[in-house]
Amino acid sequence: MENKLKTSKNGSAGSKKAALDFSSGWNYDPSPESKDHIRLEKKYGLFINGEFVKPSSGKYFGTINPANEEHLAQVALAEEKDVNDAVKAARTAYNKVWSKMPAAERGKYLYRIARMIQERSRELAVIESMDGGKPIRESRDVDVPLAAAHFFYYAGWADKLDYAFPNRKVSPLGVAGQIIPWNFPLLMAAWKIAPALAAGNTVVLKPAETTPLTALKLAEIIRDAGLPPGVVNIITGAGKTGASIVNHKDINKIAFTGSTDVGKLIQRAVAGTDKKVTLELGGKAANIIFEDAPLDQAVEGIINGIFFNQGHVCCAGSRLFIQESVAAKVIRKLKARMESLIVGDPLDKNTDIGAINSKMQLEKIREYIGIGKNEGAEFYESSCSIPSKGYFCRPTLFLNASQSHRVVQEEIFGPVLTVQTFRTVEEVIEKANNTPYGLSAGVWTDKGSKIFNMMSKMRAGVVWANTFNKFDPTSPFGGYKESGYGREGGLHGLMGYVNLK
Ligand code: NAI
Ligand code: MG
Repeated sequence: MENKLKTSKNGSAGSKKAALDFSSGWNYDPSPESKDHIRLEKKYGLFINGEFVKPSSGKYFGTINPANEEHLAQVALAEEKDVNDAVKAARTAYNKVWSKMPAAERGKYLYRIARMIQERSRELAVIESMDGGKPIRESRDVDVPLAAAHFFYYAGWADKLDYAFPNRKVSPLGVAGQIIPWNFPLLMAAWKIAPALAAGNTVVLKPAETTPLTALKLAEIIRDAGLPPGVVNIITGAGKTGASIVNHKDINKIAFTGSTDVGKLIQRAVAGTDKKVTLELGGKAANIIFEDAPLDQAVEGIINGIFFNQGHVCCAGSRLFIQESVAAKVIRKLKARMESLIVGDPLDKNTDIGAINSKMQLEKIREYIGIGKNEGAEFYESSCSIPSKGYFCRPTLFLNASQSHRVVQEEIFGPVLTVQTFRTVEEVIEKANNTPYGLSAGVWTDKGSKIFNMMSKMRAGVVWANTFNKFDPTSPFGGYKESGYGREGGLHGLMGYVNLK
């Protein structure tokens, strides 16, 4: 079977002995999710004005499965003329149909899209894992259900905008240009499209070049849901296509999630125009463990925060701070748990850590691992096996790291965790806040008062307490400082898509 990649030699569940002795050497049998039900075209056009059309240049590019480097499909390369066509379709749909439609009718379309995502959830989850490399457990249990949940949530707001913003006159902005990254392709599309449509805007969305397939599947769903042509346009391409969207004169709003570098370029490009902008950029989240924390639970939270999904999460808990008195114990538990992680085939239900999204990203992570070693932090990696083909990286620690290390300051976006210790609350707050980012943080303690104290002093958009990476459509998400501005999710998520008078 082609999916049968070699997985870790270790297991962690099933018998008491195995739970205690991670080197017991027994295997899980492979349990790959079937691909038989997947329908992928050989070639995808651009979804403009309700149908798939050929790109004006006639150019296509390939997307691969990063777990085995196999080619999956060709997708169209949109150039300026195609961006123009997409914006024109969105503008016409906005003027003639979408802004005129009773809000409750808009809501009905969103509900329909949400239900169709649920109906096609298996196919979407498998394609997400094939195209981007994330474990099927995550795409099946997190990405796809949350994508549907966002459409359901914003469907409910469509005809209640006057209640969302009482005593204000609410109107849509017009055409929104939306550019999304490769770490949560379908979910980011849902985060962007659902609130925009609920508020009465039309959309031109561009997925990332390494993970275009679930966005194109969403285009099929949108077409099959009978959404009026032009309300949502989905075009594929790389940075240049993104820049054409950003610079287009007839776009009223840019919503971007991705690297801080590109975020800064976008900010410069829209300066002096009347385009509205929301940016969700990088992060370098602190995960802080106090001596009174439930340690086993905390270790599981650390693992989940940085290693699951290969650290490809902007809010990943990439900096660990442990109170000195429990540091040795936590590190021992952490290393033991890392030994039991299974790195391998993203489609296997046992897999904890899938493939790194692209060769470029793997090279970036390797470069940072080299930097960390040179800087003098103590390097540790799990001894788990990794497949010989595809882009994989073992879960890695840098122990005794210091504030000035680049691996502590810069976003790596891989399964690499820096570990530092602290003695007092004041010390850890200062260290945790000492980065250019401010997207999220985690606090582990038994004391409610300590949680509230930490939350008020951490410069982070989200602070999780005794858990990590928990999302809900009702809850706003976004950052401070170089992590961007604007909020997505919840009522706040609508604000980026409306004019209020
Ligand atoms: P990127 O920021 O280049 O790509 C994100 C999206 O922006 C893609 O759709 C891309 O095609 C588009 N884009 C690229 N250049 C553009 C431009 N000049 N104008 C408009 N759109 C443009 O991110 P990349 O290169 O894929 O990853 C580099 C690093 O960025 C990662 O290593 C990670 O540190 C960070 N990153 C952060 C993400 C987050 O969720 N905050 C997501 C992805 C990457
Ligand atoms: Mg791909």
